[in-house]
Amino acid sequence: MAIWYRKSMALSLLFAIAFGLCFFFTSAELQRFEHPTKSDGSLSFLVLGDWGRRGAFNQSQVAYQMGRIGGKLDIDFVVSTGDNFYDNGLTGEEDSAFEESFSRIYTAKSLQKQWYSVLGNHDYRGNVEAQLSPLLRKIDSRWLCLRSFIVNSELAEILFVDTTPFVKTYFTDSEGHTYDWRGIHSRKAYTANLLKDVESVLKESTAKWKIVVGHHAIRSVGHHGDTKELKTRLLPILQANNVDFYMNGHDHCLEHISDTDSPIQFLTSGAGSKAWRGDIKGHNKEGLNFFYDGQGFMSVQLTQMDAEIVFYDVFGNILHRLSTRKHLHSSI
Ligand SMILES: *[C@@H]1O[C@H](CO)[C@@H](O)[C@H](O)[C@H]1NC(C)=O
Repeated sequence: MAIWYRKSMALSLLFAIAFGLCFFFTSAELQRFEHPTKSDGSLSFLVLGDWGRRGAFNQSQVAYQMGRIGGKLDIDFVVSTGDNFYDNGLTGEEDSAFEESFSRIYTAKSLQKQWYSVLGNHDYRGNVEAQLSPLLRKIDSRWLCLRSFIVNSELAEILFVDTTPFVKTYFTDSEGHTYDWRGIHSRKAYTANLLKDVESVLKESTAKWKIVVGHHAIRSVGHHGDTKELKTRLLPILQANNVDFYMNGHDHCLEHISDTDSPIQFLTSGAGSKAWRGDIKGHNKEGLNFFYDGQGFMSVQLTQMDAEIVFYDVFGNILHRLSTRKHLHSSI
């Protein structure tokens, strides 16, 4: 009796382990953070990209206006679209650039909220693990940077996607730069798994607004142009799953482009510091609504029915506004 019992215990333990392993390998769950809406059910936040230059290139001026507009809109959090620290990310957790480019720049009261950040290609040129480290949160509790993760409220699901590993040339022709690929043992497996996660998260989402954030643009008329890997691999998943907005940085400008095959709006906010590249390319201008080559940032206000997105310049002037209304009987 005792022996039989022990055998069956061992067997079920074996099953449990096997099942657990299966689960572990098939579903690399993305970390999820709940962010409550305001008491009236709305949500507002600022979006900024390509910024960390110790205040230079108008970074401080943009920060000042973010503080002003952030106060006016009573923002809930800030989204960073990556390239957080120039030129080469952080050297380590002790790198003074963290405080000199972040803590001591975004000092306004309204900006003392949670920041949700992804990594840009310049961040990958430094010590990536440092930017992801919880130790930074001890220095400045606003900081949260992960490779890919989810922020959700009843109103919106915001999916942050690590886009740098998608871009093949960073691996094949690094132009003298070194990248910190620790944690990305195989580009192919990493991106394939990530896309699987993106698809399942978006499929299962019941949120009113579905927003995806990445560093690289899917569509851009700026210096770098479209990111072909994202256009062919990520975009079809977003189109098939009713994504409302894709937000990115990378090109040092502000842009609004409408997808020609779906309701997706492409929004570039990569103008946190150095801008004015003056090289709006002759490439694909399909769906282009707005392009600004200088510094600035973007605000997002969401309610059950409406989304209002506004772009600002370095003086806080409104450059462009996009208002979208959900259809009452939309098919989820
Ligand atoms: C700062 O912003 C102003 C106004 O847009 C612009 O004229 C100036 O060139 C900017 N400075 C730099 C260094 O980009």
